[in-house]
Amino acid sequence: MKTETYARVLFAGPDLDHGSLAELTRRQLTEQFGATVLGDLFDTDVGYDALWEQVRDCLSSEALPLLVVDLDPLGGSPQLDWLRGELQALAGERADRLFVCAGNAEEVAALAELIQQPDKHLGCVDVPQLPESHSWSCIPPHRYRVLLCNGPRCTRRGALPLWKLLREELKAAGRLETEDGVHITRTQCQFPCDQGPTLSVYPSGEWYRIRDAAEVKRLVQERFVEERAVPELIMRA
Ligand code: FES
Repeated sequence: MKTETYARVLFAGPDLDHGSLAELTRRQLTEQFGATVLGDLFDTDVGYDALWEQVRDCLSSEALPLLVVDLDPLGGSPQLDWLRGELQALAGERADRLFVCAGNAEEVAALAELIQQPDKHLGCVDVPQLPESHSWSCIPPHRYRVLLCNGPRCTRRGALPLWKLLREELKAAGRLETEDGVHITRTQCQFPCDQGPTLSVYPSGEWYRIRDAAEVKRLVQERFVEERAVPELIMRA
C-alpha cells in the first residue's frame, strides 16, 4: 500500500500467514486498508528473507520513501534497532528514505493513524549501535525462566495480548530480566491447551493458567514480586 507520505508501506510480524490469528489479522487489515495490503504482509515466523527481498525491490524501483511497520507484539526496542540497522545496511546511501515504526495488528484503526504520523516513525540513519555486550550476546540476568505458550489454542484464548501485558507488568515491577526477575521465552503448544493460556515457571516447575488481565497482574505481584506460589492459578494435574 502507499500513503501521501510513503511510496510503499510494508508490514512485518509473526502470525501473518497461517492459522486462525493470521486469518483474523488479514481480514481486519483488508477491511482497513483494502485487499492490496495482503501483498505487503511479511510473516517473520519464517524469517526475514522475503521482507529483505521486497525492500531491495523498492530500492531498485525507487518506490521510496518506504515505511516498514513492525507488528511483533513482543518486539521491543532492541528488535526495532536491529530492524533499522538491517534496513540501513540494505539501503546504503539511501537509508534516509527508509523508516520504521512499531504497531499493533490487533488495533487496525490505531495502526492506520500511526502510519499517517511520520513524527512517530524512526529513520534508518544514525541507528544506535548495539553495545558490544548487548542483550543478544549473553545470558540475561534472571531468577526465573517463564515459558509463554504461543500455540494455536492458547492464542485463540487471547494469549498474545495477555503476554504483552505480562511483559509490561513485569517491567513496571522491575522484574523483567533483572537479577531477581524473569526471563521470558515464547513456546509452541505446551499441551494442557484446554486450561490455557499456559504459562510455566522454572526452576520451580509450576504450571499456571492465565485467563485475563487481572490474573496477569495477580501473578506478577504475588509470584514474582512477593515470590510466593499462587495456588488459585495453578493448573490441575
Ligand atoms: S496451545 Fe498452549 S498449551 Fe497447547
